[in-house]
Amino acid sequence: MKKITFYDTKPYDKVWMDKLKGEHGLDIKYFESKLHADTVSLARGSDAVCVFVNDTVDAEVIDKLYEYGIRILALRCAGFNNVDFKAAFGKLHVVRVPAYSPYAVAEHAMALLLAINRKVHRAYNRTRDFNFNINGLMGFDLHGKTVGVVGTGKIGRVFIDICKGFGMHVIAYDPFPVKDAGFEYVSCEELMRCSDVISLHCPLTPKTKHIINKKSLAAAKPGVTIINTSRGALIDTSALLNALKDGHVRGAGLDVYEEESELFFEDFSGTIVQDDILARLVSLPNVILTSHQAFLTDEALEKIAYTTLENLRRYFDGGRLENEICYQCEKQPNCPKDHVKPCF
Ligand code: NAI
Repeated sequence: MKKITFYDTKPYDKVWMDKLKGEHGLDIKYFESKLHADTVSLARGSDAVCVFVNDTVDAEVIDKLYEYGIRILALRCAGFNNVDFKAAFGKLHVVRVPAYSPYAVAEHAMALLLAINRKVHRAYNRTRDFNFNINGLMGFDLHGKTVGVVGTGKIGRVFIDICKGFGMHVIAYDPFPVKDAGFEYVSCEELMRCSDVISLHCPLTPKTKHIINKKSLAAAKPGVTIINTSRGALIDTSALLNALKDGHVRGAGLDVYEEESELFFEDFSGTIVQDDILARLVSLPNVILTSHQAFLTDEALEKIAYTTLENLRRYFDGGRLENEICYQCEKQPNCPKDHVKPCF
């Protein structure tokens, strides 16, 4: 049986992994620690490593894994901005789960939009305290409003369908537009200018880092609502905070945060969190922050476990690695994956 070192384990990760690992001929050693230079030695003696969004797969870690004879890294997520692909190329095959449940993430994006708009979080706290006053809980009809969707991949398109169900007018920006989309593509600038709601569904790349910044926020429609279920660093958080404070941004629903890696998925309720930007952000009544839970549905976790284990089984069987991503794929996001061999 091939041995997998599994980093950043949470109880919900094990449920489907344990159910499916045997039939894939894999044995998993679970660790709660995240992967980084200080913990990479835990992988010594194993055949593969499995990581999540906040593990650090930099050049130092990659060189160590290579030294231990490990040639494959399985990301149990879609995003891959935590991997140094240039350093990995030629050393480590990197496979991921490109799609597990776009519905899980898109539905969470809509949950954030509905909650922040109709102030469900505030109403919940009030009624639990028998405060039945509804002052300050005013929302707006989504029907007829313009939603600007940045990134029209799998999740973005499901989110668009949901928005259409609410009677919203959809505009979108994507450098790789889909044909016969059934919605209107506009430039990034026009999207910022015309949207009542902006929802981010693009990957984090050098081009998309801080796509929401001081300048784009200044150009945005006054009263815009921002939803981000993609990656935290798509937004310059200080700029968003200022725009929330001065009222230019009406509200924000965030499932991700640019400095989340040391905080999210852990319980810090008994400590004083030192991140003042985060502390200020969560103190605002017009912000809802969830800690990267958009993927967390039963269906998504089953698919994540199945695809991760299948990716590894195929690699060990010498099969086609359709979910491999490499330096070239990252440079050229529309890699057709039509080759039968691994990427190098
Ligand atoms: P996808 O690969 O199907 O779609 C991404 C889309 O973004 C593509 O159409 C691509 O052309 C577009 N894009 C690339 N560069 C862009 C740019 N500069 N501006 C605008 N659009 C651009 O990916 P999918 O599955 O829809 O996921 C989207 C993102 O959602 C992931 O990259 C990941 O960061 C995030 N995600 C978050 C989760 C969570 O739990 N919060 C879970 C899963 C994914």
